[in-house]
Amino acid sequence: MIHLIEAARKRAQIYPSHHPAVEELVIKLLRAVEEILRLRPVVSFNIAHGEIFLDEIPLTTATLRHKEFVELSVVKAMSTLTFEAGVTDEEMTKLLGLLNKRPADQIVGREASFQEKLTEKGVEHIQVGALVSLSELNLLEGAITPAEQEARRTRDRALELVWETYNHLLAGKAIDYENVEVMVKGIVRALLEDRQVYRHLVDIKDYHNYTFNHVVNVAVLALLFGADLGLNAERLESLGVAAFLHDAGKLSVPADLLKKPGKLTDEEWALMQQHPVEGAQMLLEQFGHQNIGIAVALEHHAHYDLSGYPKMATGRRLHLFSRIVSLSDVYDALTSDRSYRRGMMPDQAAAIILAGSGKDFDPALAKLFVQSVGVYPQDAVVLLTNGETAIVHETNRDDPVRPRVRLTRRENEIIDLRETDIGISKCVDISLVAVSS
Ligand SMILES: [Fe+2]
Ligand SMILES: [Fe+2]
Repeated sequence: MIHLIEAARKRAQIYPSHHPAVEELVIKLLRAVEEILRLRPVVSFNIAHGEIFLDEIPLTTATLRHKEFVELSVVKAMSTLTFEAGVTDEEMTKLLGLLNKRPADQIVGREASFQEKLTEKGVEHIQVGALVSLSELNLLEGAITPAEQEARRTRDRALELVWETYNHLLAGKAIDYENVEVMVKGIVRALLEDRQVYRHLVDIKDYHNYTFNHVVNVAVLALLFGADLGLNAERLESLGVAAFLHDAGKLSVPADLLKKPGKLTDEEWALMQQHPVEGAQMLLEQFGHQNIGIAVALEHHAHYDLSGYPKMATGRRLHLFSRIVSLSDVYDALTSDRSYRRGMMPDQAAAIILAGSGKDFDPALAKLFVQSVGVYPQDAVVLLTNGETAIVHETNRDDPVRPRVRLTRRENEIIDLRETDIGISKCVDISLVAVSS
């Protein structure tokens, strides 16, 4: 059906909107929509990550053939396009007109959203969900609260400090431990005041600078989880420092090996498996035996049942912080984009963590961790079992798979999924948030 939208839209660029050549295609499009509307309450296209979906079904051919439509959806900030029963040919024509409208050169004040323009034109049966990526939100004045701005600045400082610390460790130079402690203390203080701001922060992924981003994300995830477990500020500070130092040994692994897509050779794998020991040794040289970071660096890939690496003495009980960091580590690795693959959605990552419970992870902690990060985090874009798209408004701690959601096509309507038969079929995106118009 995307091909019909595109064909009609292109013809409407050449002919006036009520020209028979345009009308012919509009009617064809309308018939196609009506056909599907006989089977389901709405026809909803979702455009996420450059891909077109009909509900949750990816339309691979349409995505490949209609790149222009995907690009247009970005320009128009259109992430969902929904047709409801009763849609008319006149409404279709107005939609095509708006899709073809060039952006104004100069905008005085705020430009009306696509949805607002549709409503202005009296279109009632076509809805457009306006979603924008978090990074684009940076550009929208006033879209980021002062607390979020401060958290982002803290994150940038943390990234710099991790970079410096890891490079010093690699070179065998003394690290500025005090600085690391001050930075972690600042994060702990801010995070205990407002956890939500920091939850958003771990959604920022940057595969170009993977190792350092990973380390900062792991520290923030570990601190959020530690705070949910009820650890006091002092314990959280030492957990934070340990998490910041957990991959100290990574810099001793060649960079191209860290980025290598696909399977590693036995030799490469052996080299990779050295990083916990290398890291622990670096930290041991810096601190002697007093630092908890040494245990965490050594144990973070050991696995709960000790089947991981390096090999541990039978019966060894891993430090609580190692078990926390190990969960945060795997979660961040699974949900991050790499140069060779897309990161998983939180619901898939949560399923993998629960599947590894008792083997890779401490079972009690794994369950609590999934509750802490949320299967469907706040602001995640989800597809519902009835075909509609929604944004997670609030997670229900007693039932993490049935949060309260806001429907994208009826922004003001919040549904508590615990109280309906509607479920979530899958998470579509986490880096998208609704723009309130
Ligand atoms: Fe590691
Ligand atoms: Fe790691």
